[in-house]
Amino acid sequence: MDDGMSPFAARVGQLRSSTLRDLVAAASASDTQHVLSLAGGLPPAQALPVDALHAAVERVLAAGGDALQYCPTEGVGDLLDLIAADLQTRLGIPEPRGRMVITAGSQQALDLIGKVLLDPGDVAVVEHPGYVGALRAFAAYQPRFVGVPVDDGGIDTAQLAEMLDAGLRPKLCYLVPNFSNPSGATLCAQRRVHLAELSARHGFLVVEDDPYGQLRFTGEALPPIATIGGQVAYLGSFSKVIAPGLRVGYAVVPNWLVRPLVVAKQAADLNSSTFAQRLVAEILKDQAFINAHVAMLVDLYRERAQALLAAVERVLRGRLRARVPVGGMFSWASIEARGVDAIALCRAAMTRGVALVPGNEFTVDGGFPADVRLSFAMLDPDEITEAVTRVGAALDDLAVR
Ligand SMILES: Cc1ncc(COP(=O)(O)O)c(C=O)c1O
Repeated sequence: MDDGMSPFAARVGQLRSSTLRDLVAAASASDTQHVLSLAGGLPPAQALPVDALHAAVERVLAAGGDALQYCPTEGVGDLLDLIAADLQTRLGIPEPRGRMVITAGSQQALDLIGKVLLDPGDVAVVEHPGYVGALRAFAAYQPRFVGVPVDDGGIDTAQLAEMLDAGLRPKLCYLVPNFSNPSGATLCAQRRVHLAELSARHGFLVVEDDPYGQLRFTGEALPPIATIGGQVAYLGSFSKVIAPGLRVGYAVVPNWLVRPLVVAKQAADLNSSTFAQRLVAEILKDQAFINAHVAMLVDLYRERAQALLAAVERVLRGRLRARVPVGGMFSWASIEARGVDAIALCRAAMTRGVALVPGNEFTVDGGFPADVRLSFAMLDPDEITEAVTRVGAALDDLAVR
C-alpha cells in the first residue's frame, strides 16, 4: 500500500517470526553439513504406522464414498464414540460424548478457544516456559499473557493463587500437564487438585492440552484435571500416537462452550477431514493394534530419552544440565558453562550441524537466556550421542572465542 497505511490487521503485529526458523534458514543457506535435529518434536519415520494406515485406507474406501463427503462439524460419529469410550475408561473423563468436537489437530482447538474466549486485553495465564504454538494461537486474539513459572512439578499453582488473590482475573489458564512442551515437566497430583479448585473458585477455563499423556516411560498416570473439577477444556491429539499428517485431534469442553466452539469451527473449515477421521476410527477400532503401537512408541522414546540424558551427563557434565522427563519428547536443559547464552549456543551448534531451540522461543516476552529445549524424538541413540558431542564442540568453540 502506498498511502503509508499497513495493509495488515492489528493482530498481525502479534505474530512474531521464530528464532528457530531463522536459525534453520541461516544454516541451510551457509552450511551443507547434515543437520542432526534435537529441535522439533516430530515422530520419526518408524513411529508412523504406515502399513496399518495403508490397510485402513483400503477398508475405508471399500465401504463407499461416505469418507469423501462432508461430515457434521462436531466430527464423524463412529470416531466420537470410540474416543469418548476411551476417555471414559482410560482416563475417567465424565460423559465426554456430548461435549466433544473433533479438530484439525489440537492446534485448531487452541485457535478456536482463543477465538471464542479472548477479547483484546483479556488475561491468558500460560506456563513460563510454555508451548510456543499455543502462545502464537492465542496471540492472534491480543490477550495480555501472564506467565507462571514451571518447576519439576509443573506450573506453580501457589504463585498463581497469589496472583488471583491479588486481583488477577484470567479468562483461561493454558498448560500441558504431562511431559510438557517445552519443559518436560509433569504437573504433580496436588497441583492438579489445586488448579481445579482455583478454576472453580475464580471461574476461569483450564485448557488442559495433553498430546503426550500416553507416552509415559515410568510410573502411574496422574488424573487429568478434567476428572477433578473446575471448568476444563481437555485437548487430545492423534499426532503423537498415530500421525501428525492426519491432522486429527479433539476437545472435550464444558457444556456452555460446545455450541460456540462448533459455530467457530463451522466458520473456519465446516469440518475436519472426514477421510482422516475415518482412518483414525479404523485404527482405534483395532484395540490390540493401537495398544501395541503405543507400547512400541513408549519403548522407542524411553530409549532415546535415556540416550540423551546419558550423553549429556557424560559429555557435557558441568556445562549443560538436562532435566529428566518421565515421558514425552522433550528435556529442558540449563547452560552451566559461564557466560554462554542460549542463542549463541544454538548458533554455534547449528554451525556444527545440530539444531536445538533457545529458551526464549517459549515465552511471550523473552527470558530463559541460558536454557535450551532438547527433543530426543527424531534421532536414534547413536545420532543423539553424536549430536550431544557436537554440542560439546560448539561449547568449546564459544569458550575459545
Ligand atoms: C503441547 C502441544 N500442543 C499441541 C500441539 C499441536 O499438535 P497437533 O495440532 O498436531 O495435534 C503440539 C505439537 O507439537 C504440542 O506440543
